[in-house]
Amino acid sequence: MKRIIAPSFLAADFLNLGKEVEMVNNSAGEWLHMDIMDGHFVPNLSFGIPILEHIRKATKKICDVHLMITAPEKYIEAFAKAGADNLTIHIEASPNLHRSIQHIHSLNMKAGVALNPHTPIDFLQDIIEDIDIVLLMSVNPGFGGQTFIEHTLIKIKQLSQLIHDKGLHTLIEIDGGISLHNAKAVFDAGANVLVAGTSVFKAKNPQQAIIDLLNA
Ligand code: DX5
Ligand code: ZN
Repeated sequence: MKRIIAPSFLAADFLNLGKEVEMVNNSAGEWLHMDIMDGHFVPNLSFGIPILEHIRKATKKICDVHLMITAPEKYIEAFAKAGADNLTIHIEASPNLHRSIQHIHSLNMKAGVALNPHTPIDFLQDIIEDIDIVLLMSVNPGFGGQTFIEHTLIKIKQLSQLIHDKGLHTLIEIDGGISLHNAKAVFDAGANVLVAGTSVFKAKNPQQAIIDLLNA
């Protein structure tokens, strides 16, 4: 099964962003995860479109953009222009989810749907065939460095079963609290993509940390 590590820029050293992008460029991480927060959908603010534009120019890695914002449909075009490859929006923030997914696809991006820890996998039943990625939050969104919620393992298995039953190839991405302590269990449950902020950027050797997660 496909395994991808997506270092999360939220934990990067913002004074040395160029160096951090270079580290990821020369690493085994295939995706570069960027958390966009608006202070409404989540109780925190992060960075926005200008940062993505600069990172886009500096990397050939897949720019995996995670919108933790209300009314994400308003910004789909702006993130396409800024260079997102994957655009993930929250199911809880999207009353017209299907329309937004069509919009994301029409701009040649992969479409992801994110679920908060309390949102059941069942809610994907009528949308799963239309999307490329499901992102399961394994912490409450808004902050890096939180503890992995163990119940996520059950949700990964349920989602894996749903994808299998429908004969799909949707990628399962897990976001929050990923470390060497849980990476194996998360992959074994059926995950394809592990987002890792703290456990990569705060490691003594971030590139080795990425390899270790990949081989967990
Ligand atoms: C949390 C973000 C995560 C965050 C993960 O709201 O969506 O992507 O950067 O950070 P760690 O790996 O430190 O839990
Ligand atoms: Zn994220």
